[in-house]
Amino acid sequence: MSSNRTDNLYSCLTVSFSERVATVTLNRPKALNAINASMIRELSDVLDEIADRDALAVIITGAGPKAFAAGADIAEMSAMNPQEATSFAEKGQGVFSRIESFPRPVIAAVNGYALGGGCELAMACDIILAGKKAVFGQPEVKLGVIPGFGGSQRMSRLVGRQRAREICFTGRTVGAEEAARIGLAARMVETDLLSQAQQLALQIASNGPRAVSLCKRAINTGADLDMSSALAHEAQLFALCFASSDQKEGMAAFLDKRPPNFSGQ
Ligand code: CAA
Repeated sequence: MSSNRTDNLYSCLTVSFSERVATVTLNRPKALNAINASMIRELSDVLDEIADRDALAVIITGAGPKAFAAGADIAEMSAMNPQEATSFAEKGQGVFSRIESFPRPVIAAVNGYALGGGCELAMACDIILAGKKAVFGQPEVKLGVIPGFGGSQRMSRLVGRQRAREICFTGRTVGAEEAARIGLAARMVETDLLSQAQQLALQIASNGPRAVSLCKRAINTGADLDMSSALAHEAQLFALCFASSDQKEGMAAFLDKRPPNFSGQ
């Protein structure tokens, strides 16, 4: 796991592993990495692979100079009937929810267009880093449809309902700077997006893996609960940490004035 390696078991994406960080690259650059049914299946498969290899953090980005992903594949969707559209939406939503609840942190390194399903994929990740050329948006209404992979829900949770309505009703684009300002992205990255994403992933990976995973769970689960239930949930997860060797190691290392050596247990 400490060496670079790339697998090409997939037709719509690639995955590489470096220092226990997995990088998934959406790889249909001729179609601006549009998300088709095969890519949805492969995203699910690659999460299984990443879990098997016990990577500590995941980066998702897009191949080519222009796009993270310019949406769900319009050519594939154009002939769908309502039943097929339901199934397509449920499969996309299913894999994006898996990303959201994946036990490791997932960083979206948005290198260009993140429109429609591409924006929805980025929003399902834990942290969005927006490259200078990142362009977000939910332009589905321009095609006579609405967001189908969670955009109508995650956009308003991230930027508030007022802004979400404006963005989704107009289908307008949101640049990197605005995305960072309104909380759609964590921050804008001027240069070297991928190496900055890797640095962020490594910084997270140097912490107690179990604590990071439980912190993700506390934030995501708590967001859908009322405050007192969310605090009770946090207390349960906090207590769980005290049954881990990472807690013993982290606190012992602090008291011994040495760096911790976490096992992830
Ligand atoms: N699906 C399928 N193909 C797409 C695509 C998409 N979402 N976006 C781009 N492509 C294809 C184009 O058809 C084109 O293919 P050809 O070369 O074979 O003609 C290729 O990618 C390059 O695209 P453009 O020539 O259009 O590139 P551009 O630089 O002129 O424009 C763009 C870039 C503004 C992103 C434009 O491609 C665009 O508007 N794309 C569609 C964006 C969109 O509407 N996304 C939402 C999709 S619906 C959705 O996602 C529903 C959901 O929530 C589940």
